[in-house]
Amino acid sequence: MQAVGGTTRVIGVFGDPVQHSLSPAMHNAALAHLGLDYVYVPFHVPQGRLAAACEGLRALQVRGTNVTIPHKVEIQAHLDARSQEAELIGAVNTVVNEDGRLVGYNTDGAGFVRSLREEAAFAPDGRRVLLLGAGGAAKAIAVGLALAGAGEIVIANRTLAKAEAIANVVQSAASTRARALGVAQWPAPDDAALRAAAAEAELIVNATSLGMHAGAGEPPIIPAAWLQPDHCVCDIVYTPPETPLLAAAKAAGARALPGIGMLIHQGAIAFEHFTGQPAPVAVMRAALLAALGRH
Ligand code: ATR
Repeated sequence: MQAVGGTTRVIGVFGDPVQHSLSPAMHNAALAHLGLDYVYVPFHVPQGRLAAACEGLRALQVRGTNVTIPHKVEIQAHLDARSQEAELIGAVNTVVNEDGRLVGYNTDGAGFVRSLREEAAFAPDGRRVLLLGAGGAAKAIAVGLALAGAGEIVIANRTLAKAEAIANVVQSAASTRARALGVAQWPAPDDAALRAAAAEAELIVNATSLGMHAGAGEPPIIPAAWLQPDHCVCDIVYTPPETPLLAAAKAAGARALPGIGMLIHQGAIAFEHFTGQPAPVAVMRAALLAALGRH
């Protein structure tokens, strides 16, 4: 590992809480692997201190920072510029300090698309997608898929208005067709519209928190019987590594993409923004698995 010295530059992550962030492990492993003279540290930024923290990035010439809960939306007010993706998503997870000019990016959507291409060998171009959920993660994924040229995205959510808002953003961003479906309760075995959307989809993504910490035998978010061998099924939940939805997908003979891929690739793209170097993805994956206690 590169020793910290007089020339070492700092990269961080803003969060509250931040002590459980997996980003320091992932980024420091990548920096050490490439022998780059940076160190990546957690910054505990309480709510109400974000403006001061951003000014601190400038004053201390910190190279950049990732941004996590609860600051991804609010930080936008303290930046000098945003990427098109960040603007569409309405949230920033990566800030790069270009000589005092703070530029915001959102690498979640592109990270999801990269994991889809590289780990599931699934090209989203022209494909039909069923996206379950309409929170922050779902919005990033919808924008990422739209900018990658997806053909159609059906967004299904308990709160219909949030799904409609994402559908509108998708349609403003790309030629991707988008529509919203309200779902009274997951799983929804009697929901004919949802069932039809699942049957028509080539890609099904769970972007809700359902399935998190699920025990064996818990039902998947949509009925297992709806999954087919030609589906590609992704879950953004990465604890447990195999959610009920992914287990059902495997049992149906479908491709199953675990949520950790999005986490790795959003970090990899952020790393490339910070350092200008291609990210050593395998090193970042190993560090992440080690930090999660899964060697
Ligand atoms: P994130 O930023 O991780 O996406 P979020 O913005 O809180 O988190 O979004 C959580 C998603 O999980 C939403 O789609 C939410 O549905 P609502 O928009 O209707 O709240 C969904 N979700 C979480 N818990 C749920 C539950 N018990 N039943 C149904 N949907 C749930």
